[in-house]
Amino acid sequence: VKRWTDDEIRRVGYLVVDLIAKHLTDLDHEPAFTPVPRDAAERALAAPAPVASESADAILREFSDTIEPYPFGNGHPRFWGWVNSPPAVMGIFADALASAMNPSCAGGNHAAIYVERQVVAWLRAMLGFPDDAMGLLVSGGSMATLTALAVARHVKSGVDVRKQGLLDAPAPFAFYMTAHGHTCARKSIELLGFGSDAIRTIATGDDYRMDVDDLNRMIDEDVASGVRPIAVIATLGTTNTGAVDDLDAIADVCERHEVWLHVDAAYGGPAVLLDEYADARLGLARADSAALDPHKWMFVPVEAGFVVVRDGEAMRSAFSLVPPYIRSAGSPTGVYGLPWFSEYGFQQTRGFRALKVWMTLKHAGLDGVRDAVADNIALARYLVDRVRSAADLEFVASGLSVVCFRYRPSTASGRPELVEGRGDDALNKRILERLQVGGEAFLTSTELDGRFVLRACIVNYRSTRADVDFMLDTVRRLGAESPSA
Ligand SMILES: Cc1ncc(COP(=O)(O)O)c(C=O)c1O
Repeated sequence: VKRWTDDEIRRVGYLVVDLIAKHLTDLDHEPAFTPVPRDAAERALAAPAPVASESADAILREFSDTIEPYPFGNGHPRFWGWVNSPPAVMGIFADALASAMNPSCAGGNHAAIYVERQVVAWLRAMLGFPDDAMGLLVSGGSMATLTALAVARHVKSGVDVRKQGLLDAPAPFAFYMTAHGHTCARKSIELLGFGSDAIRTIATGDDYRMDVDDLNRMIDEDVASGVRPIAVIATLGTTNTGAVDDLDAIADVCERHEVWLHVDAAYGGPAVLLDEYADARLGLARADSAALDPHKWMFVPVEAGFVVVRDGEAMRSAFSLVPPYIRSAGSPTGVYGLPWFSEYGFQQTRGFRALKVWMTLKHAGLDGVRDAVADNIALARYLVDRVRSAADLEFVASGLSVVCFRYRPSTASGRPELVEGRGDDALNKRILERLQVGGEAFLTSTELDGRFVLRACIVNYRSTRADVDFMLDTVRRLGAESPSA
């Protein structure tokens, strides 16, 4: 690995900046998604490890030719698949600067630690958590949930789980979530050794929110039969429909039963910046822990997740492997600085994720994030209105910036059997597949009440009404052209 001169760094660096600028500006005129051609994919998979050194210019050329043309799609104004946003440009630059400094954010008395401390304080306050709550940047909502539920296990299992594990635990355990809770909660519960049989699936209402009476009843039943409840996983913005659980009412139930409340705000968290979601913010502020993904609705480049735990000391004792008698209380002037982040989570060497969150937030301001979130919600509502007013579209569900709908041939098509029921699952699947590979726009799907639905999740500061119109025109055209319509 060679040492670069200042001139070389600048020359190649400017080429990289040109590539970034070209990529970001060309996106608007390209398909939302282009699958990697088969021969290109095969070539990539078969490429041998580079034994000899190649020039930076050749490497950048290969990037331009074979990698840049086939992005995931989420930079595009009409990409509304899963929960993926375009990157904020300051965040892109921050990634490069963070790599240039290349610190480990395990801990220590260096600037990156104070950047992460700031970011933790900002996000903690945004979610309504108190100053003595502790937070960490992690890879994403999945890692945030795993981290939070590990603390819940430490606090609520009633056994010294770090020493003894769960094998000899006196009682079976239970977790509570709805079928719309994200799979990362189930994966976490499995990974933490409880097994997915410990999950109670709480009913949801017509609005896909957790039925709080059902939750209360399930916990009562478990307690009465000697089961030990560990945690409720509520959601502020479900992936399927953007539903926001009644967090305040759920917090009441958790308080009454002394059950840990974890709120998955990975997607919907930034909505608490809006007055309209003040109630959600109040409920969220009562949680024991929460997950928020700056790489979703705050436009920080992937990966950037955030976990916050109200009882910071419990978080530390769930993870720290520094014996308590030598734990540093923090010395701002020494080498070790504040208590190390690595004592509050699983990772030891940790990247400088904080810089991209810090720069993105400073550049947009919380006001800028709030306005983008408000715009996306307004755009989703525009989509709902357009779907509702079209005879050949069926509105199914919407919350925050998610809209679920179906193409439904109008009765005028002479195919009334396709109007109701499950008959048009296949048609909608075909439309989606064609739309995705055609690249006019990118939606994904979900299943609601046994029905296949098209789903748009607008976490995209580049999207406009014209983009929504174009997507809908394409869906309707594809539907009308489809052989079964
Ligand atoms: C509501 C919700 N929670 C958790 C996650 C998992 O987050 P990540 O993919 O960042 O690990 C997602 C991902 O889409 C999500 O939508």
